[in-house]
Amino acid sequence: APDVAHSAQLTAQKERPDPSMVKILVLYGTEYGFSKEIAERLASSLKETKQYWPTVVDMATRPEGYDFSKEQAALVACSTQGDGVPPTEARDFCEWLFAGKAGDLSHLHYSVCALGDKSYTHFCKCGISIDESFSKSGAKRVAARQDVNKEDWRAVNEWIKTVLTGLPSLGLKTIEQLGGMIDELSSSVDSAPAVKRWGKSRPYPAKVTALEGLCAVTNAEDKNTFRVEFDLGDSGLAYLPGDALGIYPTNPIKVVDELLSVSGLTGSCIVPVPNHHYEEPGMEDRPLKMTLTEALMKCYDLRSPKPDMLTMLASLKGQSHETLAKLKVLQEDNKALEAYLAPRHVADVLKELVPAPAVAVLTATELLAVLRPLQPRLYSISSSPLENPKAVQATIAEVKYQSLGSDRIGVCSTYVSERIALGDTALVFMSKNPDFRLPQDRSRPIIMVGPGTGLAPFRSFIKQRLLEDSSKGGQMVLLFGCRRSDQDYLYGSQLEAWSQSGSITLLTAFSRQQAEKVYVQQRLRENADLVWRLLHEEHGHFYVCGDASSMAGAVEAELLKIFQSKLGEDASAADEYLKKISQEERYQRDVWY
Ligand code: 2AM
Repeated sequence: APDVAHSAQLTAQKERPDPSMVKILVLYGTEYGFSKEIAERLASSLKETKQYWPTVVDMATRPEGYDFSKEQAALVACSTQGDGVPPTEARDFCEWLFAGKAGDLSHLHYSVCALGDKSYTHFCKCGISIDESFSKSGAKRVAARQDVNKEDWRAVNEWIKTVLTGLPSLGLKTIEQLGGMIDELSSSVDSAPAVKRWGKSRPYPAKVTALEGLCAVTNAEDKNTFRVEFDLGDSGLAYLPGDALGIYPTNPIKVVDELLSVSGLTGSCIVPVPNHHYEEPGMEDRPLKMTLTEALMKCYDLRSPKPDMLTMLASLKGQSHETLAKLKVLQEDNKALEAYLAPRHVADVLKELVPAPAVAVLTATELLAVLRPLQPRLYSISSSPLENPKAVQATIAEVKYQSLGSDRIGVCSTYVSERIALGDTALVFMSKNPDFRLPQDRSRPIIMVGPGTGLAPFRSFIKQRLLEDSSKGGQMVLLFGCRRSDQDYLYGSQLEAWSQSGSITLLTAFSRQQAEKVYVQQRLRENADLVWRLLHEEHGHFYVCGDASSMAGAVEAELLKIFQSKLGEDASAADEYLKKISQEERYQRDVWY
């Protein structure tokens, strides 16, 4: 079956606006594609009125900013990442806007749909800042900002409705009244030249130049950690210690086959290449179609099903009353829906809720419409550009676990450990991490806490400092922890060599090598005097990388205890001290769940 959404997009490119229409700018900034979906839904709602001609623009294509002088109305959807920052590829645009560089916008009407996740402190911060920036520049709101938690389509639809209700009263001029050039507007898709830089939406095909396991693996179920190196060739891609490497994985064929089998679809059927997917270099004039198997391997996330999937399932012919009742309960209760979907992969949901597994009850188009785009994963870079500016290395631990009684694997970690080999190419890009940097002044001491793969960026930090050909840098203290010195001591011999030559002060915690567990925070406690001297007297920097759920908190608690014991005052003085060094960017964390 032809893909409806895609062919609609192709015809849209050929469409011309009616001169009696009003042009509206729809601007979005996205990390995982949700804001883009909102922008597209808004654009089709605008089109349905036959009064408006939406032009959809991705902030990622406007790193130098946007000329709003010819616009009358701008409708914006933008998400917020982790600590309140814009989506990776929208950062330049947002910085430009936040700095007030858009100039006077008193002629402009606008509204913002801010996306975020309520479990983070800086909920919707980026959207809020966009809203404030427009307002400060004199633009007027068509509708109040809508803050949307996760994928709450109800809230999004409300925003779209309010915006559509508000537009007619603004007295916006039609294209004709503005004497506008129809040709300029002939496309509803962003007509700006694509950003030619290699990046998330245009990853670089890099050759794998090294791939080695770093752990002693004795049992089949043991997980390994890999050092992988990619050749950056003449891509011009560059990085600094602290940055991350993005890798686009593919899904294992086993998972694709399982999904095909429960949905009763044939992998060899031809489907269009989805437009949400990254632009694959060298394939600009590729056929616009690929097999379903290939699309499922390369383009779609087969793990986290979209909530829309249930709507699709409820619409299938032959559903039993029981299933329909179950679907209804889930669709009416956001919390129950989230709890149901969270542990399940797409195939699990289908297995449970298609009318008859392994029978073609749904079409490829129906299935693909409710799948998310396959996302790249980010890994801390563990090499130094001074060693070889054309090579980049990452340290990647295999993820394997059990859920709902079945074996689960991490998509990207097993892509690296099992599905690529030396000489293959993989799609990579750089992700800047300006909040995790070596001190400008290399005489400053650094204390690095990185158990497990938390070591990755510190290998880069240490190499960088040792390769800089200037005077001796400040003391480097590394706290590393793993299970056993003979099992998962990542880069053990190199760390020991650096320690022996006096390049670094190495403090190790082998958690499972003795009766009692020993963790890096215990080493921190034992070295309280050293830590205090380097931080307080020598203005050193303190870094933590690795597990956010327990390690990073435990390390911070230990650090606070040290401050309290040294400051000899109550806990609030220690808190203040921690705050002070954070503000001075001397306490930096790169942690993940
Ligand atoms: P464990 O698995 O033996 O408990 C890298 O994963 C190292 O970090 C391992 O030695 C692991 O120990 C240890 N680790 C686990 N939880 C930790 C925590 N809360 N704080 C510090 N280290 C921890």
